[in-house]
Amino acid sequence: MPAEPTGGARTHRLRVTEVIVENADTHSLVLQAPPDATDRFGYRPGQFLTLKLPGTDGGWAARCYSLSSSPHTGEPLKITVKRVIGGRCSNWVCDEVRAGDEIEALPPAGTFTPDSLDTDLLLVAGGSGITPVLSIAKSALSQGTGKVALLYANRDDSSVVFRDELWGLTEAYPERLVVIHWLELLLGLPGVDRLAAVLAPYADRDAYVCGPGPMMDVTEQALRSLGTPARRIHRERFFSLSGDVFDVPAPSAPVAGTDEVSGSVRVELDDETHTVPWPSATPLLDALLAGGVDAPFSCREGSCAACTCRVVSGEVKLIRNEVLDEQDLADGYILACQAVPLTERVEVTYS
Ligand code: FES
Repeated sequence: MPAEPTGGARTHRLRVTEVIVENADTHSLVLQAPPDATDRFGYRPGQFLTLKLPGTDGGWAARCYSLSSSPHTGEPLKITVKRVIGGRCSNWVCDEVRAGDEIEALPPAGTFTPDSLDTDLLLVAGGSGITPVLSIAKSALSQGTGKVALLYANRDDSSVVFRDELWGLTEAYPERLVVIHWLELLLGLPGVDRLAAVLAPYADRDAYVCGPGPMMDVTEQALRSLGTPARRIHRERFFSLSGDVFDVPAPSAPVAGTDEVSGSVRVELDDETHTVPWPSATPLLDALLAGGVDAPFSCREGSCAACTCRVVSGEVKLIRNEVLDEQDLADGYILACQAVPLTERVEVTYS
């Protein structure tokens, strides 16, 4: 198997205990964390794992796959992977991975997860977007008290993944779960007006949407036309990783255009407080890792929010930010992988 040790304190080898062929294009991997890292692989519904997989030219690539299991049902950790045409990693997973193999992974990350499982939810999935949505649905139904409406769009009947599991959920929760299948072969592509007509009864709920970009755009437009505020529409953001996120770096070189301020950062993480040097123009995450602090991360590109923390005092600047909104920033939240210091002393917390 591919996983070679990389020395990152946050990476772990997960054992594949089962491979489930969901259909010809989609496989699920049931995974087991090492006994000393079980708590690291606790997760929230809707989150993903970042795996280290063989890339092109004998190198390595990092890929993020959503968890289709629920942390609230007692089932083991499970990711679901759909083949991407020409995609080296997804096809490798579907063709090569067997039970007993080991894969190196980062702990779960991601912000596509409901704040509460006790409110009514609208879930919209297109194709393989069902993976995190199923995790949320199972969690809300088993752990929460609200109702769940799930619209699931597919090309045709043969593309529907998790058919039996969804059927089982509708049987188990007839008063709380509605599943609406939208098959494009029969209904055509979902358009704004027709989608709005179907979603209208659920427009006052928090909506979680995952699927191809155009489908998420249409869903958002439909919900906005129904009066759903933007802040209640949550889209899973897909991103591709260009760097090797498994390689823990030395502090990086200064970034052009950034103020030259050197100093230190005091960080509160997992009920411990550390103070480490924070060289000018070095991303906070790099400074923390170099200082021996086991700070969380995944993409290291400002795209996933796994490294989110909050500034308590001092000032920082974000080099790149694709996930935090204006309110997050106003509340002091930052991305450690993209934050550089603007003041000599900075204090941050992960609590
Ligand atoms: S690690 Fe993904 S945004 Fe920082």
